[in-house]
Amino acid sequence: MIVAQLSDIHANGSSEALERLDAVLAWLRPLAPDAIIVSGDIAEDGEAKSYAGVAERLRALKAPVQVVPGNVDDHALLRRVFGAEHDWGDEGPLNSVRDAGPLRLIGLDVTVPGEHHGDATPVLEWLEQQLLEDGPPALLFQHQHPFGCGIGNKDRNMCRNGAGLAEVIGAAPTVVLGLTCGHVHRPLFTSFAGLPATMAPSVARSNKLRLDGKDTERVDPPGLMIHHWEDGYLVSHVVMVS
Ligand SMILES: [Fe+2]
Repeated sequence: MIVAQLSDIHANGSSEALERLDAVLAWLRPLAPDAIIVSGDIAEDGEAKSYAGVAERLRALKAPVQVVPGNVDDHALLRRVFGAEHDWGDEGPLNSVRDAGPLRLIGLDVTVPGEHHGDATPVLEWLEQQLLEDGPPALLFQHQHPFGCGIGNKDRNMCRNGAGLAEVIGAAPTVVLGLTCGHVHRPLFTSFAGLPATMAPSVARSNKLRLDGKDTERVDPPGLMIHHWEDGYLVSHVVMVS
């Protein structure tokens, strides 16, 4: 069972943004993923054709596509362009749940209208309901990170109320395998709520790894994350595509 995670595509009408996406998808194609999740920031120019360009490319892989919004996304356009693949209805947050083979993929819309930071508070009740039953093991994904990543200017815009989110995950009868996100444009691994937590690299330009006030060069090419489920283990791979 292969789940491909793309993040932060930032389509903007430029050929460069789509060329980066095409490079990532060309690498991914032979792997024939069973599901594709996109952890936000699909397009940044608020144009329907940018969303449609991404949707067309993702759908060409013939795997179910599940997206959550990021801080630069237009909810109405996401609903319009990706509505066929989601049970979103006409209003409300763009949360989604899908059983993909032996895994339950749960997308959390933690975006706050008009803000770059996220907030888990509005999704907690919904998430609690999804995790009530004794279902398949779940992988959660969202845009903003609910844990500090150490890059100060990025942590100012993280997902708030991570404590509330961790509490819901910790109390869930369903097995939660972990949480993965995007937003910082850097791959990383940590733990959250006592579980593995990851961040996928961006398709768009990476951010610098700026720790303890020290600057570095921006060197990372576009990339993606591959989550592989086998024999009861979820193993997450980072792939950078030059
Ligand atoms: Fe982004």
